[in-house]
Amino acid sequence: MTIRGFIFDLDGVLTDTAEYHYRAWQRLADELGIPFSREENEALRGIPRRESILLLLKGRSCSEAELQEWMERKNRYYLEYVCQMTPRDVLPGACELLEEIRRTGLKAAIGSASKNARLVIDRLGLMPLIDAISDGNSVERQKPAPDLFLHAAGQLGLLPCECVVVEDAAAGVEAALAGGFWTIGLGPLERVGKAHLVLPSLQGVRLSELLSHLNVRIQTQSAGCA
Ligand code: BG6
Ligand code: MG
Repeated sequence: MTIRGFIFDLDGVLTDTAEYHYRAWQRLADELGIPFSREENEALRGIPRRESILLLLKGRSCSEAELQEWMERKNRYYLEYVCQMTPRDVLPGACELLEEIRRTGLKAAIGSASKNARLVIDRLGLMPLIDAISDGNSVERQKPAPDLFLHAAGQLGLLPCECVVVEDAAAGVEAALAGGFWTIGLGPLERVGKAHLVLPSLQGVRLSELLSHLNVRIQTQSAGCA
């Protein structure tokens, strides 16, 4: 099996915006007087804005207008962080890996549930290394459904089994596996342990090492096509 492309989640994979999402939700929760913690935020990782606010509300009832206002407010807080981002905010190893992917002639796409993905990639200066972006506007069904990654693979003109997805969220790993993608999970085993390969981060990661790790798995495990 030949790998021809990579699809990267954005928040928490290429940059630490997962932290900014958390801080923005925490600020909103504090203003609404809803108990919320960093631990609870883990359930929101990779989850779209609307589902995130519903989880944060923990069953409290509200009107659609309130829901909209809270989502917009959280996004304003989030964008305050994003507007200060620069290429220095690319996580260690991410740029080097993207450059190696480009040099090797493989494709690279973004598969992010965020509607702010283009803005963030632009702030990070990564546009020249990215061939396609699938984001929160691209599909109806978000992660853990595989649709977003299938959309990204389609934009690259590749089959799922020709692509490696890199994810930091349980919902994203689930989505990638459901779509038949080779899957690398970044973070603790309890979060991304279902991935074909689990790494702490992209720091020091070389493309050849990733591919050889996955090749070992290819002999013993099918990612959805032969
Ligand atoms: C995901 C993040 O990438 O995008 C989630 O992991 C976030 O935390 C989701 O809620 C939607 O992002 P946005 O920027 O459209 O609110
Ligand atoms: Mg993520």
